[in-house]
Amino acid sequence: MRAEMDTIKIHDKTFRPYISYGELSAAIDRTAEKINADYKGTKEPVIFICVLNGAMMFMSEMMKRLNFECELVSIKMTSYSGTETTGDVKVPMGLTGSVKGRRVIVFEDIVDSGYTMVALKKLLEEQGASDVRICTMLLKPAALRTDIKLDYVAMEIPNAFIVGFGLDYDELGRNYKDIYVIEQ
Ligand code: IMP
Ligand code: MG
Repeated sequence: MRAEMDTIKIHDKTFRPYISYGELSAAIDRTAEKINADYKGTKEPVIFICVLNGAMMFMSEMMKRLNFECELVSIKMTSYSGTETTGDVKVPMGLTGSVKGRRVIVFEDIVDSGYTMVALKKLLEEQGASDVRICTMLLKPAALRTDIKLDYVAMEIPNAFIVGFGLDYDELGRNYKDIYVIEQ
């Protein structure tokens, strides 16, 4: 009964609790420690790329933990419709700042097929970034269809559709603090 009471409804679908904020937060702590160690003593401010809209919560959690000089640039990318990737990556809003000659770290909510990260890495290299690393909160290894290099992965999950902590189902569900998985 209890599990049923904890489920949430978004549009036409039901989701159940999956990853708590506590678990996410611990995984984010560990990832931030690694990045802080790798960028220790960095002379020039590093540019953080926030991939809107999904990554905004993860980006803010990471910014609270990363302790070297940084600037923030955003970009909006979309590839999902409903609960599936379309494979067609769109950029409804381009980079909000220049990355020319700069070291950047991309912050993404989740990597599924990997097409979004392949497109973004290419775009950043074309715009002259001197070094591009990718940090994703979540990865669905079974869904990967590209050989994109992911430098930092906070958590791996099975191939299931999830919402919460920035992730949406047709724009709803981003404001849940925990992550929920779809009920089949
Ligand atoms: P990819 O291009 O297939 O790797 O898809 C990555 C993008 O799809 C992410 O930035 C998310 O916005 C979205 N996405 C992938 N999996 C999920 C999910 O389970 N729930 C919500 N959005 C997802
Ligand atoms: Mg996204």
